[in-house]
Amino acid sequence: MPDDGLETGAETLLYEGKAKRVFATDDPRLVRIHFKDDATAFDGAKHATVGGKGEVNARISAALLRRVEEAGVPTHLVRVLGPRDHLCRHVEIVPIEVVVRNVVAGSLARRLGRAEGEALPFPMVEFFYKDDALHDPPISDVHALAFGWAAEWELAYMRHAAKVVNEVLSAFWGGLGIRLVDFKLEFGRFGPGRLLLADEITPDGSRLWEEGTGRHLDKDVFRRDLGDLGATYRELLDRVLAAEAP
Ligand code: TMP
Ligand code: ASP
Repeated sequence: MPDDGLETGAETLLYEGKAKRVFATDDPRLVRIHFKDDATAFDGAKHATVGGKGEVNARISAALLRRVEEAGVPTHLVRVLGPRDHLCRHVEIVPIEVVVRNVVAGSLARRLGRAEGEALPFPMVEFFYKDDALHDPPISDVHALAFGWAAEWELAYMRHAAKVVNEVLSAFWGGLGIRLVDFKLEFGRFGPGRLLLADEITPDGSRLWEEGTGRHLDKDVFRRDLGDLGATYRELLDRVLAAEAP
């Protein structure tokens, strides 16, 4: 497998997801997250290997998580270890996907019969239960509370933090001529009474539409067969790095 970085095979794999592997470190409070080159959609039903995707996502996620942290939302990222490896705080992931939307697209358009591209009058936060077998169904607070997926304060915190993240990311992408349509966040528990923004912020879990052209610069390129995902992601990374340059 053409996977550079810090893959040794001798470490304890704690968890393997569709796009990342999580390894134990010498410190039980820290993990190493390795970004893979796999692209999946429709809960893994569609799969491809896209050379360099892991590295692009690791770099974009690090840049965005830092900006979010600077804006006062604590994240799991401690530091970047290598081209596709992050040292992160070892959290217990809340089994809820937190989606923020600025524009109608994707499952919202399908579920409620709205046209993709309709601007929303305010940013909308939605919760989905993280379960591939159930296809991540949309849920309300009552479901999370009744089934013990999250406490009331956690739902309130995630909703608030997601809106702050939306402001940071909308401004960042907007500065690059890109419209942040929607994105997904995950949070993790780190000690009692403390949630950190976890997982990743990447074009895998965001919709990014180029201003003017409406071109998709995100995983919809793969989901909808719109072009070359690897080339699209590299172009996006180049724009992010140009914005990072002093
Ligand atoms: P949706 O329109 O399919 O509900 O997706 C909303 C946003 O969440 C979109 O930017 C893609 C992201 N997302 C994920 O990151 N993981 C998922 O499993 C799903 C369904 C969506
Ligand atoms: N994240 C899910 C998958 O990889 C769904 C999606 O992004 O479309 O299958």
